[in-house]
This record gives sequence, structure tokens and C-alpha cells, in this order.
Amino acid sequence: MHDKTASPAPAPAPPLFTWEFAADPYPAYAWLREHAPVHRTALPSGVEAWLVTRYADARQALADQRLSKNPVHHSESAHGKGKVGIPGERSANLMTHLLNIDPPDHTRLRRLVSKAFTPRRVAEFAPRVQELTDQLIDGFAERGEADLIHEFAFPLPIYAICDLLGVPREDQDDFRDWAGMMIRHGGGPRGGVARAVKRMRTYLAELIHRKRENPGEDLISGLIRASDHGEHLTENEAAAMAFILLFAGFETTVNLIGNGTYALLRHPEQRARLQRALAEGDETLLATGVEELLRYDGPVELATWRFATQDLTLGGQRVAEGDPVLVVLAAADRDPERFADPDTLDLARRDNQHLGYGHGIHYCLGAPLARLEGQAALATLLRRLPDLRLAADPEELRWRGGLIMRGLRTLPVEFTAQG
Ligand code: HEM
Repeated sequence: MHDKTASPAPAPAPPLFTWEFAADPYPAYAWLREHAPVHRTALPSGVEAWLVTRYADARQALADQRLSKNPVHHSESAHGKGKVGIPGERSANLMTHLLNIDPPDHTRLRRLVSKAFTPRRVAEFAPRVQELTDQLIDGFAERGEADLIHEFAFPLPIYAICDLLGVPREDQDDFRDWAGMMIRHGGGPRGGVARAVKRMRTYLAELIHRKRENPGEDLISGLIRASDHGEHLTENEAAAMAFILLFAGFETTVNLIGNGTYALLRHPEQRARLQRALAEGDETLLATGVEELLRYDGPVELATWRFATQDLTLGGQRVAEGDPVLVVLAAADRDPERFADPDTLDLARRDNQHLGYGHGIHYCLGAPLARLEGQAALATLLRRLPDLRLAADPEELRWRGGLIMRGLRTLPVEFTAQG
């Protein structure tokens, strides 16, 4: 338990952004919560930022109107050094999206997109998600082994969001390649990412143009059609919206499925309990379980950048106008002040208001879709491959980590071959 104020640090802050940190950041997060809950550090890009790690501070920061999502407020952006954001988006002219703007623009765009991306549209998409999930498992079920990241967790969200947006099936493998480039180079060399983002942008602009001429029932046509008091999205806004749906909904969901499956394989009792519930046709534990997996090892760490629009105090710390503030959701969601036994995975956890999907006006727009995909993926894996087991030493697994999102690079598994 931590005190209201940070206790004096016994030693320097643990190293962040190393391989060891990516494999298990939780001891470092515990240290930060205890000793430096609002901590100034240099990010790998060289940008100095504040990391917020306690639940109460995190929740407050996410909803604080003095913290802007717009990178123009970054003190370094005036010097062309503003490097907090999505790689490649600047050069591809995709900056005007929900995660970069504040009210009133945010309110207008969010209202418009919410008219097209409705919970009903997501619910109607459930059979397609199930079909995709089964097809991907069919691809490796006869082999008795697979890499669940490359063959399952990675393609599922990309095909799902492409289908939902209305990207024709024959073009979806291009998206798979571009997304692969973004995920492989995320936080690394930016050239490849910028190229992938540019190609995606060109493709989306053409697709939007075609859908305007020839609308269908897909989400892009819905975005074009959506209107609010006579207002519509411009073509550029629609392209940026489609891009952020892809970007925000892709790597996050890959990691929910990857980290989630890994956590289940490492907690056999919890996994057996879920398997029993599913066999009895009870999906309650599946629903609470996916939320718990998100709290326990959620994918989003620092992708919640904000910029102080004025000098302010956060968690007892002075933050200057123009400073970037990164809310570390994965740290907040292990805060013992908020969660009982925070380091224990409890699929039946009820009091679980985690911050995995954020909080406030930028709360994840895709949460219903992410839940649908996460639940379908885990339930179908456990039902179809009941003796699924890890085929690697956990110490040997490599994590893609740190700056924006955290997830496994590979997840080798074995099981009794089917069919
Ligand atoms: C926003 C997490 C899946 C679309 C967010 C935020 C978080 C988040 C933490 C808030 C960021 C902030 O406040 O700075 C996740 C996680 C997912 C997931 C953990 C999967 C497990 C998706 C999916 C989509 C999506 C599938 C869409 C297809 C969005 C959008 C926003 C957003 C558009 C911006 C909303 C706004 O600014 O108003 N997400 N997300 N997300 N997410 Fe997700």
C-alpha cells in the first residue's frame, strides 16, 4: 500500500524501456507508484515526459480538460521535435483524428462516428467474428502446433476491422502487410512505418472516394452518410477516422488476445475454471475474465499522451505548460489502493473498474468490438483446442515493448492435432 505522498526513494528509479522491463514491467511500475508516482523521464525518442502510475492520479489525468490531446500544445512541437504520437501520421496528413483533438472538434467528430459505429453494428458483426476465428484455427488445427501471435492474434483483428470498414477481401492482405510493418517497427526505425502509413492513407482515400460514388452497408459508407445538424465528415476527416479505427483497434486487440492467452496458459487453475464454465454453456466467467485479463496484463501502457495547456499540479507534482503527460494504464490497473490483490489473476473479479479502455471523453470507442473479438478468440481456442499448452520456456519468450503497447512477439503452442 502506498502513502498519500510519495515516500523517499531508497534507490534510483529502475531502468525503463529495457528488454527486462518489456518482459515484466510490473516491478518497475510498483516502484514508481510507491516512490515517484508522477515521474519525469526521457522516452526512447529523447522526449522528456511525465509518467503517471497511480490509479487515482491516472483516472483524474485522463479526464482533466487542462490536459490536451492535441500535439500543438507540446512545448517541443514548435521546434519540430514533437515526437509523441503515431509514427508516420504527420507526413500522411492524418492528424485530425479523435486521439489528437479536444472539444469542441472532438465532440463533433465523436458524435458523427458514433452514429455509424454503433453497438448494434458491432453486435450484428458477431457471426462474422466467429467465422473468422474458426477459419484461422482451421489453418493450423491439423498441425498440432502453431504460433498463436502470427497465425491467430495478429490476423484476427486486422481482417475483422477491414471487413467492418468495407475493405474488399482481395485487398485485406495488403492491410495485413502494412499492419505487420507498423507492428514490427513500432518504436523502432520510423522509415518503414511512415511508408506503411502512407500506403494505407492513399488506399483509404481512394476507397472513401469509391464508397461515396457507390455506398454500401459498411462502416466507411456509414461514416460518409453520418450527419449531425447538417454536418458531415470531410473526406480527409473520414480518412483520418478510418485510419484511427485501424490503428487504435489493431495492435491493442492483437495484444489482448496474445497476452490474454498467455496469462491463461500460465494460470492453469483459472484456465480450467473457464474451460469448465464454457463446457456448461455459462459465459459469465468469459465476460468478467476478458475484463480481468485486460486489467492484469493490458496492452496499452503509454499510448495515452496528453499535453499540459497550463502549469498544473498532478499527484503533488508540478507539471509545466507544454509538458507531455503519459498515463501508464498497465501500472494504474495494478494499484493496490484500488484493486484487492492486484497481482493476482482472478477471472471472476467483480470490482474491476480498470482503465484498460481509458476514461472520460476519449474512452475507447471500439471497446464493444474488442470485447467481442477477445471473448470469441479465447472461448473458441479453449473449446476447440482443449489441451492447448505453451511450447516454449517463458523465459525465452520475447516481448515487444515499452513505448506505446506491450505484447508477445511469438506465442508457440502445442495441442492434440485435430481432424
Ligand atoms: C481510444 C484501448 C480496441 C478504437 C482508446 C483509449 C484506450 C483504448 C486506452 C483511450 C486513449 C486515451 O485516452 O488517450 C483499447 C484496447 C483495445 C482497444 C485495450 C483492445 C483490447 C479498439 C478497437 C477500436 C478502437 C477494436 C476500433 C475498431 C478506438 C478509438 C479511440 C480509442 C477510435 C479514440 C476515442 C476518442 O478519442 O474519442 N482505446 N482499444 N479501440 N479506441 Fe481503443
